[in-house]
Amino acid sequence: MENLVIKLGGSVITYKDQPLKTRIHDINRLSREISEFVNDFNIVIVHGGGSFGHYIAKKYAIHMGLPRIKLGLSILEKEMRKLNLIIVESMINHGIPVIPFSPSNMLITKNKNIQTFFYETIIEAIKRGYVPLVYGDFVFDEDHGCSIISGDQLCLEIAKIIGAKRIIFCLDVTGVYDKDPKKYNDAKFIRNLDHRKIPELVQNFSLSEDVTGGLVNKLLVAYEAAKIGIQCIFINGLQHNLIKKVVKNEDFIGTIIF
Ligand code: IPE
Repeated sequence: MENLVIKLGGSVITYKDQPLKTRIHDINRLSREISEFVNDFNIVIVHGGGSFGHYIAKKYAIHMGLPRIKLGLSILEKEMRKLNLIIVESMINHGIPVIPFSPSNMLITKNKNIQTFFYETIIEAIKRGYVPLVYGDFVFDEDHGCSIISGDQLCLEIAKIIGAKRIIFCLDVTGVYDKDPKKYNDAKFIRNLDHRKIPELVQNFSLSEDVTGGLVNKLLVAYEAAKIGIQCIFINGLQHNLIKKVVKNEDFIGTIIF
């Protein structure tokens, strides 16, 4: 069975401009869609922070190192677990045997690079037919005290560990353009993106306000992935039934980074 990593972006599971508000209809729809193919693959699902994680991380400046207010980390973890629990409930209601994993309990970074990752339980869960559900989280960092690890970084790390050849990123946009389509009307959509073009392409995009860098960071993760033969596929997760077409290798609109 093929091993697959699916990222549910924060903009697909929450309203990014409304703090602590989930897109519950989209969460339920995605759970239903994933439940239709969950038994055909070994899947790890990773979700982002959206208006839970980014909002709290910014509020307490957690991405800059240990926050002035000690409780900031505790509050971030509490809110991420709330978001995670909503997704867990939705997935269980759709028959997906998810097991949630908290990266802050399993990982240590050094200058934001993963130093230690206790991932054995994730492997055990997959072996037994469960679907690990991981999320972007705070992590203790040897140099900075703490930091934020994005769901995107986790996707790549987990793909390496489980030997997945594809990571599917569900975003709130169609895929990758040659420049920011929100700023330029003549931005061209890119269907197939050779990873060697990414270092130049990212110059056309500014870092977003997200604590984990938005599209630029995603493209850099895809760059690292492609270098070791892992394909990243960017699709619009708000579009109905798209994810199923991607996993089943049917025709779909999105960007394939190879
Ligand atoms: C961020 O994870 C996690 C926190 C802010 C705690 P991501 O960077 O993967 O989140 P999204 O998908 O952009 O919202």
